[in-house]
Amino acid sequence: MRPQVFVTRQLPAPAMNRLAEVCDYKVGVEQGALSRDALLAGVRNADGLVCLLTDTVDREVICAGTRLRVIANVAVGHNNIDVGAARQRGIYVTNTPDVLTDSTANLTWALILALTRRIVEADAFIRAGKFTGWDFDMLLGSSITGKTLGIVGYGRIGKAVARRATGFGMQVIYCGRDDIAFRDDPHHNSIMLARQSSTSPLSQSARLDGLAARRVSFNQLIETADIITLHVPLAAATQHLIDRNAFARMKPTAYLINTARGPVVDEAAMVEALQQKRIAGAGLDVYEREPEISPPLLAMNNVVLLPHVGSATLETRTAMALLAIENTIEALSGRTPRCAIK
Ligand code: DGY
Repeated sequence: MRPQVFVTRQLPAPAMNRLAEVCDYKVGVEQGALSRDALLAGVRNADGLVCLLTDTVDREVICAGTRLRVIANVAVGHNNIDVGAARQRGIYVTNTPDVLTDSTANLTWALILALTRRIVEADAFIRAGKFTGWDFDMLLGSSITGKTLGIVGYGRIGKAVARRATGFGMQVIYCGRDDIAFRDDPHHNSIMLARQSSTSPLSQSARLDGLAARRVSFNQLIETADIITLHVPLAAATQHLIDRNAFARMKPTAYLINTARGPVVDEAAMVEALQQKRIAGAGLDVYEREPEISPPLLAMNNVVLLPHVGSATLETRTAMALLAIENTIEALSGRTPRCAIK
């Protein structure tokens, strides 16, 4: 008998066609998000679940899917899935890394440029009929050349953002998982400071990648970067990583960019920091209570707001869907899926 797969939302034709070669499938909805009840019903007789970041696959859903052998998320982030509960039941959880790296890094740069060069404001200015003639100090932005880009989270996407920074003549500093985990540990922070003043300006990992990026402690990054961009997964260790305390340490001229996950930032603290001009602006693709947006953000000119479109190109979304289907097929054929979450 062919395996049964529940796909919560219709995916691009190449992915559905590939799935049909090996499995029988049902689709939850053609467009938009699936209801909780439909998700619970859909997993009931399924061997595989292909889901999106809007599907909350918690213990209840996992227990309802008594036959499930794989949960394939069509996203690199997998904070919508209770990976521990799946593991306990011997179910693979997979994601879609790599294929969305460039799109997400490009969108990060789109936000950086839109924010610092006031692109959205300038477009609105024209449409409102306000462009009545060129003026010397009209819509002055902020230069990024020679400034410091601080990358929080130095995985695939963080590095792709760093690679693009050389073209804009920026200095790059970054901090990784350990620097985040030990950010309140004075010993760790003094080691990082000592490394900074040692002879080599570049950390070993940065040099291995051929990137002129310097590893610093989380606090150093927050205090010295002109643009702070977030590329960490959402987990207990990163929830509200950018909190009131972090905003208080930032330069008043700093910009914050978030294309990772909304809850990495304490949104109320960010609104407060923006209102009190403790930072210069923010470029956001993700929100703490998506799709809800804190109302004050909507009225701010120094904020660019996007509806979680980091990976939203036709090519990338098709590649993500295909990868999720390959993961599903591999698991249901008795193989370890290529993107199994460890
Ligand atoms: C992901 O893959 O985690 C992205 O947020 C989806 O665009």
